Amino acid sequence: MENVDGIVARALEAFSAAQDPAALENAKARYLGRGGELTSLLKSLGTLAPEARRSAGQAINEAKAQLEAALDARRGALADAKLASRLAEESLDVTLPGRGRGRGSLHPVIRSWARVESIFRSIGFDVADGPEIESDWYNFTALNQPENHPARSMHDTFYVELNDAQGTPLLLRTHTSPMQVRYARMHRPPIKVIAPGRTYRVDSDATHSPMFHQVEGLWIDEDISFADLKGVYTDFLRRFFETDELEVRFRPSFFPFTEPSAEIDMRFDSGPLEGRWLEISGSGQVHPSVIRNFGLDPERYIGFAFGSGLERLTMLRYGIDDLRLFFDGDLRFLRQFA
Ligand code: FA5
Ligand code: MG
Repeated sequence: MENVDGIVARALEAFSAAQDPAALENAKARYLGRGGELTSLLKSLGTLAPEARRSAGQAINEAKAQLEAALDARRGALADAKLASRLAEESLDVTLPGRGRGRGSLHPVIRSWARVESIFRSIGFDVADGPEIESDWYNFTALNQPENHPARSMHDTFYVELNDAQGTPLLLRTHTSPMQVRYARMHRPPIKVIAPGRTYRVDSDATHSPMFHQVEGLWIDEDISFADLKGVYTDFLRRFFETDELEVRFRPSFFPFTEPSAEIDMRFDSGPLEGRWLEISGSGQVHPSVIRNFGLDPERYIGFAFGSGLERLTMLRYGIDDLRLFFDGDLRFLRQFA
């Protein structure tokens, strides 16, 4: 049947001409598919005499087997070619230098924290740590802050929906001052300690964040005066900022737990806020009632305390005008301090 030979020759040609699997499957449909040339030939066998039908049928079956084998071979060849081209495309140049590993660094506020610790350690202060979830008693009552004090309001303080063992409310500490009481009740004078850590308030603007860091300082002995506070704190600032040319002021103020009290302000000497004053700390002579809550006799013991903002010190050190930058996690900002 020369008809069969012609179909086989054309099909083989079409198979080898196909350059991708889709073209190959189209060619297959044209010859071997349901309406394909070879299939139509098979269907027309019914019109032949039985003798001719047998030999024609055999020839068509052989042709079909031959084409299927050719099809499989071509499918294999196309898959091999595809793999080879992917390998060539995706090959690695092992001689290319690597990208290197990104190096992390300390956050600028944490660097300030470490600086403050090392300066105060060097003048004999202990460093203490305490709970961020604090009782109402340590955070307010022990610090002479009466029940109706505005700082206790829900607008200013994050209360926790739990009470401590004595049934008093728990809250996220609003300052590190409760550490004065915790530490003093566990140590005998002379008491000389700083307590850095996280603190929380319902606050948010360019100089206030809901979570921020304070460092508490406390020095209690028989003769520690306000002059000692000024001397120690000014010396600390000179070492922290590595210069004696600082503009600092002790501004009279009020805290229930100190008397007299002062807030400490410092002037920016660079950056967008150059020339502007920023409050960095509260401070004062510890109030006699608080000394009593330390378990000490206020007739005998006296001294100073301060509570400074670590973000504020960091803003002044680097000339930064918005403390929210510290918490945005923008690497372009943070990398500058690496
Ligand atoms: C206090 O928290 C007192 N406990 C300080 C103190 C301690 C006074 C010991 C006397 C004796 P004040 O609320 O001013 O005071 O906060 C102290 C410092 O924390 C501020 O000067 C400021 O530097 C920083 N600070 C306060 N609130 C925020 C805030 N929301 N975000 C960033 N820093 C803050
Ligand atoms: Mg203040």
